Amino acid sequence: MQRELSFPDGFLWGASTSGYQTEGGGDRTDWWAFEEARRAPEPSGVACDSWNRWPADLDLAAELGLNTYRISIEWARIEPQSGRFDADALAHYVDVVHGIRSRGMSCVVVLWHFTLPEWLGHRSATWRDAGAPAAFERYVRYVCGPLAPYVDWWATLNEANTYSSHGWLKGDWPPGRRHDWLGAVRVYEFMARGHHLAYSAIKDIAGSEARVGLTHVLPWIHPAEKGSAFSGAVQAYWRWLVADHFLGKVRGSLDWLGVQYYYDSPCRTFRLADEDGVVPRTDMGWRIAPEGLYHVVREAHARYGVPIIVSENGIADASDTQRARFLLDHLAWLHRAIDEGVDVRGYLHWSMLDNFEWAAGYGPRFGLAEVDYDTLERTLRPSAGTYGGIASANTIAKGTGDGLTYADGTPSLAPE
Ligand code: BGC
Repeated sequence: MQRELSFPDGFLWGASTSGYQTEGGGDRTDWWAFEEARRAPEPSGVACDSWNRWPADLDLAAELGLNTYRISIEWARIEPQSGRFDADALAHYVDVVHGIRSRGMSCVVVLWHFTLPEWLGHRSATWRDAGAPAAFERYVRYVCGPLAPYVDWWATLNEANTYSSHGWLKGDWPPGRRHDWLGAVRVYEFMARGHHLAYSAIKDIAGSEARVGLTHVLPWIHPAEKGSAFSGAVQAYWRWLVADHFLGKVRGSLDWLGVQYYYDSPCRTFRLADEDGVVPRTDMGWRIAPEGLYHVVREAHARYGVPIIVSENGIADASDTQRARFLLDHLAWLHRAIDEGVDVRGYLHWSMLDNFEWAAGYGPRFGLAEVDYDTLERTLRPSAGTYGGIASANTIAKGTGDGLTYADGTPSLAPE
């Protein structure tokens, strides 16, 4: 870094995880059924066994100096059969959120992170089932009271847009529909209804001061070629489809917005051209474009007018040769947005540990901690130390990262 970058007092520095991707044993879900039908590349199995090893995961985060931890609750564990609730599963999650707080960290809880109970998922309508929004509300009402004393930030739904595109267009996630454009758009209506009901339920139970929002992935959509008169309209269309179509339906019931950013999407006339150009890439082949984080948080804040938490940002990087550079560059751009007045309350890295990356299985390594899937041992990667140092100091010290490059030799993509 060319100069020291200090973050606002009380800034949230954290790591994000999700239930299905780390806990293991998610056999009551639509995802598990999808895996058993051999529609996923490999079974999720015991994952990281975080169902049992969660104290070790929290210890890692706290030792690093993080002050925030994000988990999700698995609806299928709480309500394994329609209308039958499992008090032990709820008690487990109360222990986890209490464990987060007792380690001095703030707690972010997501109530739905891609998996549905199989009794809802097996009807191929899943979230489009007429009863889904009310069923979601009933589950939220069941868990909210006992969790509430420990939860600082509630998110109802994670990435409705990713769910819709994989489940209805690509077909590589449940319910496995392909090219169902109508379904992909209509599912938003059901999810938005579920969000509104859950929002009111949490306010009823946890009190009006409870902070309720949701998390959404926002790629940075920008023109691939400068100066095309047409590209502005096409871009606006993509932005609407990816972001505003759904977010527009939930505005009004948002106390905060979780912005999740991974890559940019240069936009050509009729398509997003993610594959274009020579730029540094992650192990997933995703473009590395830290500047995009600046643009998406600015736009989200301007459009929705609520505090923003960057609730996911991270990189598949098994060799850990790019992660520190990636973190520093994204944080430098985020700092610029904050300097310009954007109300950003925190940054949560995806992820605390390697985990089950959905249709990509266990190949991609997103963790600050490496997981050995034979022994389930966790080992912090060197980049975790860089991140922990920044979090503990609430500052990126001048000179941090000097000499670090991306794998293709690009020195840095931080702002000048
Ligand atoms: C999701 C995570 C996922 C990550 C990396 C986000 O879309 O919320 O579940 O693992 O991105 O792909």
